[in-house]
Amino acid sequence: MGYLTTDKKKITVKTILAMKGSGEKISQLTAYDYTTACILDEAGVDSILVGDSASNVMSGNMFTLPITIEEIIYHARAVAKGSKHSLVVCDMPFGSYQISKEEGVRNAIRIMKETGVDALKLEGGVEIIDTVKGIIAAGIPVEGHLGLTPQSVNKFGGYALRAKEEAEAEKLISDAKCLDDAGVFAITLEKVPAALAARVTKEVKAATIGIGAGNATDGQVLVYADALGMSDKFKPKFLRHFANMKQCMIDGVHEYIKCVKDSSFPSEAESY
Ligand code: KIV
Repeated sequence: MGYLTTDKKKITVKTILAMKGSGEKISQLTAYDYTTACILDEAGVDSILVGDSASNVMSGNMFTLPITIEEIIYHARAVAKGSKHSLVVCDMPFGSYQISKEEGVRNAIRIMKETGVDALKLEGGVEIIDTVKGIIAAGIPVEGHLGLTPQSVNKFGGYALRAKEEAEAEKLISDAKCLDDAGVFAITLEKVPAALAARVTKEVKAATIGIGAGNATDGQVLVYADALGMSDKFKPKFLRHFANMKQCMIDGVHEYIKCVKDSSFPSEAESY
């Protein structure tokens, strides 16, 4: 369905649910700009997430909390323009949906209107369920996000594995069912035991998209800069580098500097 570069059919939330049904794994990567979105889309990734990790990757912040609605709209609008095939999901920033259902729905509609993305992602379970229902009632597909929810890093006191203990695992399962009953099309499961993610995957109709959640989820998501090896600073156990873009870019920059210094660039053919 989604992985052939020649198959340019737009992926919708229906496609994602059909992939869960057929057992075809779902690939999701983040992107925050037009050029990267064009590359991921051409490569055939099923879904692009405009993650609030833009706060870290694009702006150099320690946390995802500082990113504003205006900033996520800027990134999401660029990504939506570059994505012809992939389903584009945009994170709702911290503070844009926690205050009240009305404010959450208003901000969700604003992001949809001003960006052209296909769906939104919100962190949390039962405590935000009225807002999730309100957003879905407005016709906007929602992806949930459970387990390690980085907008709550201060409550957790860090980025450690979540739901190791029975009580937190049970809460996660009940949150997942609550989101599922509300009609989310997907649920991100971040940094939780593989067995728990496998259980949730079996028990919900929504597609589960794992990150540090083992191999039994319906799909996987990674931050593109991590997956493509653009930095060697962040290397948690769950991360695999599928390319070494940092070295590739350093080699290209070295070659450029060399050619400028020895005056071989620009050549006559590159001049007017
Ligand atoms: O913001 C993000 O990049 C995310 C993924 C890590 C799931 O939420």
